[in-house]
Amino acid sequence: MIHVIWLGTLGVLYLSFIIMTPVKAPAPRKSLAQVEVQKSVTEDVKEEVKAVQAVVEVEPVDIEKGKTIYLAQCIKCHNKDPNIKGAIGPELVDAPLEVMQHKVMTGRYPDVLPEGFVPKRKTKQMTKFPQLAKDVPSIHAYVQSLKKK
Ligand code: HEC
Repeated sequence: MIHVIWLGTLGVLYLSFIIMTPVKAPAPRKSLAQVEVQKSVTEDVKEEVKAVQAVVEVEPVDIEKGKTIYLAQCIKCHNKDPNIKGAIGPELVDAPLEVMQHKVMTGRYPDVLPEGFVPKRKTKQMTKFPQLAKDVPSIHAYVQSLKKK
């Protein structure tokens, strides 16, 4: 009988110990690097949204305007003849419109590439030109008008 009482007391003590122990959720800790990554991901998403909005608001294709912008902005790195590579940038005639749109908006290739398209370079040297978003279809049309093959 004494055993039963003894065990019962222990049981009650054990249970109350479990109940009284506060359950602490581990405080979320973020390293600076994680915060930086998060920030840059947010920036990427913002740019992505801007790019999509820009595609919606494009101006009518104007090859002459495309030519003016191409010669003013792009041949610093790309060749005047987009069939061949330039001082810094590769040839442009094989890049579909959506790739050019993304390159001009963000400086980078889209994460999901159009089928069959292979980036000419793996580098990330190109600067972005978000202010030219609406004009990319015109630039693209000008570049395609010079395509040889
Ligand atoms: C600062 C130099 C520089 C300028 C200016 C520049 N680009 Fe680029 N571009 C590059 C480089 C370098 C690449 C190769 C990938 C990389 O490193 O970003 C590239 C790649 C591209 C590609 C992908 C080509 C492919 O088939 O892989 C397109 C499209 C493009 N540029 C369009 C443009 C347009 C349009 C302009 C003008 C509005 C422009 N670029 C201005 C340097 C530049």
